[in-house]
Amino acid sequence: MDKFIIEGGNKLEGEVEVKGAKNSTLPILAATLLTEDKFIIENIPRVRDIFTMKRVLETLGASISIKKDTAYIDTRGAIGYEAPYELVKQMRASYYVLGPLISRLGRARVSLPGGCAIGSRPIDLHIKGIKALGADISVVHGYIEAYAENLEGSNIQLKGASGPSVGATINTMMASVKANGVTIIESAAKEPEVVDVADFLIKCGAEIKGAGSNRIEIKGVDNLSGCEYRIIPDRIEAGTLTVAAAITKGDVVIKNVEPIHIEAIVDKTKEIGADISSGEDWIAVKMTSEIKPTNIETSPYPGFPTDMQAQFTSLLTLADGISIVKDKIFEERFMHVPELVRMGANLKRESDYVIIKGVPYLSGAQVMASDLRASAALLIAGLAAQGTTEISRIYHIDRGYENIEERLSKLGASIWRLRE
Ligand code: UD1
Repeated sequence: MDKFIIEGGNKLEGEVEVKGAKNSTLPILAATLLTEDKFIIENIPRVRDIFTMKRVLETLGASISIKKDTAYIDTRGAIGYEAPYELVKQMRASYYVLGPLISRLGRARVSLPGGCAIGSRPIDLHIKGIKALGADISVVHGYIEAYAENLEGSNIQLKGASGPSVGATINTMMASVKANGVTIIESAAKEPEVVDVADFLIKCGAEIKGAGSNRIEIKGVDNLSGCEYRIIPDRIEAGTLTVAAAITKGDVVIKNVEPIHIEAIVDKTKEIGADISSGEDWIAVKMTSEIKPTNIETSPYPGFPTDMQAQFTSLLTLADGISIVKDKIFEERFMHVPELVRMGANLKRESDYVIIKGVPYLSGAQVMASDLRASAALLIAGLAAQGTTEISRIYHIDRGYENIEERLSKLGASIWRLRE
């Protein structure tokens, strides 16, 4: 398993470009299964999760090749209905084939993903959405089995105990685009990735209104066709680079961003003392002051994203005072806390929040990555720490950040990958 070695303390300076959004690429690749045609999808991030989704599509019988940042997909011909455990256990988002398969074939068998490092992660809302369209769904031998002669439009309330669900909104939307009549999704997730998937489906011929609000209306169409589509920039990668610039007292221009998508992150980074300016598709982050403490509570878009909680926690370990970071969306998402303590941070976890007492410096240590964003948090801490940080199990980082060591090196970081 590869490791990162980081010599901390270098300021990040220069320009860096953000890649396409992993979390909209995954469902958009799955959505190509909805119809029999050819697709060209641009601005694909070359990260491990995308290659896992490529394997899922290939297993189902589609053909897909990825050249540089463009995917060429052909979904003509027969496709299968089963996404096996071997693939779904590697990446939960494989469940995105459920909606497209039930729509196209009237049948789907998708392994239940199980828990993961950030908690139990139920999928009851995905099942509720697709069931409401008239599918017969059961969970047998660890698989979700769904059948439907016809899918019928319906009024669906998708609010869960922890608020709206990005995944369930997208899966239900994909399942309903060819259903008979009109589907209304109430309490829909409003994340930019939901809008990106809707825009892709509209380009294929779907009739969808209201994506980006909490009420999405989908009028079923008889057929969809292939198209060319460009994925939006990854807002979490943009946010991660923003925090990396701030913690190293850097001066970085981040290009290929959609500033409106990262407003909550930018506001918080300004609050802790950074100067941030922005243009149409870039932001510039400059940090000259000490890091000020702040409090954060994650919430659905447009609130502060749970996917940035861990990285911001790293930043606040060096703040001049006490901060509190709360995450009620994923209450177990604090695996980075004990690792940051190993680097000299003063953190205390209490149920769904962490109390952070800023320290003057972090010291490099051997730490272990546990999930995608927790690993990004350790990377950020390592960039600022005194001495050498060794991060093991970095396959978690490779799931969501393309060539991150090369891009950080270009900004002046001392970081190497040790291949094992
Ligand atoms: C997506 C993102 C993930 C991000 C999350 C929240 C992808 C591949 N992943 O995950 O990076 O952290 O959105 O922005 O896009 N829930 C239920 N029942 C369900 C589904 C979800 O109770 O059927 C709960 C979850 O446990 C969580 C909350 O709803 O507490 C939000 O989860 P959800 O928006 O579904 O996250 P994902 O789509 O899995």
